[in-house]
Amino acid sequence: MVHLLAFESSCDDTSVAVLRAEEGDSIPKLLSLSVQSQWDVHAKYGGVVPELASRAHLQNIVPCLEKVLSEANLKISDIDFFAATQQPGLIGCLLIGHTAAKTLSMLYKKPLISCHHIEGHLMSIHLENTPEFPYLTLVVSGGHTSLYLVKSLDEYELLGFAIDDAAGEAFDKGAKLLGLPLPGGPEIDKLAALGDPKKYRFGKVNTPLFNFSFSGIKSELVRIKNREAENLSPKDAAASYQSAILDHLFNKIESATKTYKTNRVAFVGGVACNSELRRRAHQPGFLTPYFPDLRFCTDNAAMIGVLGYRKFLRREFSDLTSDVISTSRPSFRKTA
Ligand code: KG4
Ligand code: ZN
Repeated sequence: MVHLLAFESSCDDTSVAVLRAEEGDSIPKLLSLSVQSQWDVHAKYGGVVPELASRAHLQNIVPCLEKVLSEANLKISDIDFFAATQQPGLIGCLLIGHTAAKTLSMLYKKPLISCHHIEGHLMSIHLENTPEFPYLTLVVSGGHTSLYLVKSLDEYELLGFAIDDAAGEAFDKGAKLLGLPLPGGPEIDKLAALGDPKKYRFGKVNTPLFNFSFSGIKSELVRIKNREAENLSPKDAAASYQSAILDHLFNKIESATKTYKTNRVAFVGGVACNSELRRRAHQPGFLTPYFPDLRFCTDNAAMIGVLGYRKFLRREFSDLTSDVISTSRPSFRKTA
């Protein structure tokens, strides 16, 4: 039996989790999870302020750590290894979680495992159930939109990624344009439910293969807002904008299901919380969709724990010279 402690601090959520795996388990069991959001700190600035985010992580990380250990009824000396997000993210934020794991690893002489945040999102689906292989995974978060073909627990092939803004970024920027508070995704989600998605027309997005682009949709929203001026209906604009983002995502998914001959699709990352996205994915006869629980869609350390455990089984340890990395392409692991 092994216990692991996982840290996630790549952006504006401080999260720590304790997981346990029995001999032969392929996925660990989550014992406790703490997620401390910082939106109250950033709200008045209209976006995440990196320096404030790092300071908030510093304040939140020890209380989060104490909470998960006490909920799991464990002491830090019971932990067999430490996992933390190493990349990509805000450098000062990554440093807090990664340095915490590094320090504990050094003090308790237990292994350190450095993780890729997007790979963590990809693994979040396994916290509850693992789809039959192969299946597709759409990672839709604030910083990334990418599509993978997942062949096994350790083999995934990157099929395409966003060439400009990520889908979550498009939700957040669109919300700002419509005067909604941040984070914009949940606000657009709520307002769109009251509006007409066909009221404002958005052109079809054309990108090569399975790549995504959302900046054109955002520019169209700017044009619509300027054209309509005081006649703009915010709820119809939210519904039409959300619909344009989802049309683009589902067009790519539909074509990938045909190319790769599987209709099993996992949706992970913050935007996978979107209610219209979930409704469309569940339309009868379309896909066999898989979603993590809402608390595992947005940033959390439980998903880093699942990835950390797979890396532990693969003996992919980091040494104490390992450092955080702010940006990286979403192709972290090649298939065999
Ligand atoms: O995965 P996540 O917590 O952080 C990143 O790795 O980026 O995703 C955050 C993103 C934000 O852009 C947020 O607006 C979006 O997820 N989001 C949503 C919803 N809930 C969160 N987007 C659309 N509809 C939602 N209900
Ligand atoms: Zn994320």
